[in-house]
Amino acid sequence: MRTKLVMGNWKMHGNLQTNEVLLARLLAGWGEGRAAGLAVCVPTPYLAQTQNLLRGSAIGWGAQNVSKHLSGAYTGEVSASMLLDFGCQYVLIGHSERRAIYGETDSVAAAKFSAALSAGLIPVLCVGETLVERESGVTEEVIARQLDAVLELAGTQGFGRAVVAYEPVWAIGTGKTASPEQAQAVHANIRQRLAEHDAHLAAKLQLLYGGSVKASNAAELFAMPDIDGALVGGASLVAEEFLAIGQAACA
Ligand code: 13P
Repeated sequence: MRTKLVMGNWKMHGNLQTNEVLLARLLAGWGEGRAAGLAVCVPTPYLAQTQNLLRGSAIGWGAQNVSKHLSGAYTGEVSASMLLDFGCQYVLIGHSERRAIYGETDSVAAAKFSAALSAGLIPVLCVGETLVERESGVTEEVIARQLDAVLELAGTQGFGRAVVAYEPVWAIGTGKTASPEQAQAVHANIRQRLAEHDAHLAAKLQLLYGGSVKASNAAELFAMPDIDGALVGGASLVAEEFLAIGQAACA
């Protein structure tokens, strides 16, 4: 039985003041003993604030990006060990916005995944197809390619301490959610693909769905056998919405 995980991706939103209010509300609404995990991936400058406010709580936290390098002359980059210094447990890898806007390739995502793993972080590998790719019927191929790049570099065992998030690009920030059946089909395919390498590991892997998840559609998504939680963008900025999604994951 896999524990569900609801993770917020704040993207480039927030400031010291609004973060404090949001995190206080999450702390008030999410105590120990919940059946699901709750975590937030915040902008890097707010990791210290997040660590100070969430330390010792039932809510985990992480970052949205990491360098593929361990250290060195890489101006503007942040290493995995730096994220670890601020108590991060998670880091998003290969989010579609990083792939589309910053040209992150499958191999860069794989290198970042490995850097995160070797520092002791839990990489949350984001995969997903664009609308054009879905309409051309190549969803499975695209996701296989994104997974295979990581499998080649990190090996199957790399997924033993990782999370995978399926985020169809066409459903991100658009209000269009994949139907529970559409998402389930892709999740089952991802699990099957990994099971070909290691069935036990694949059965334990947490597979999150992301793309316009809200309190109103979370329960039907979580009812699917291979959907183990959500990676939530916009709705994670509204405490009540995010908590309600977390609550749906406990059902
Ligand atoms: P939305 O929930 O705003 O669609 O964003 C999804 C996402 O990209 C989470 O990483």
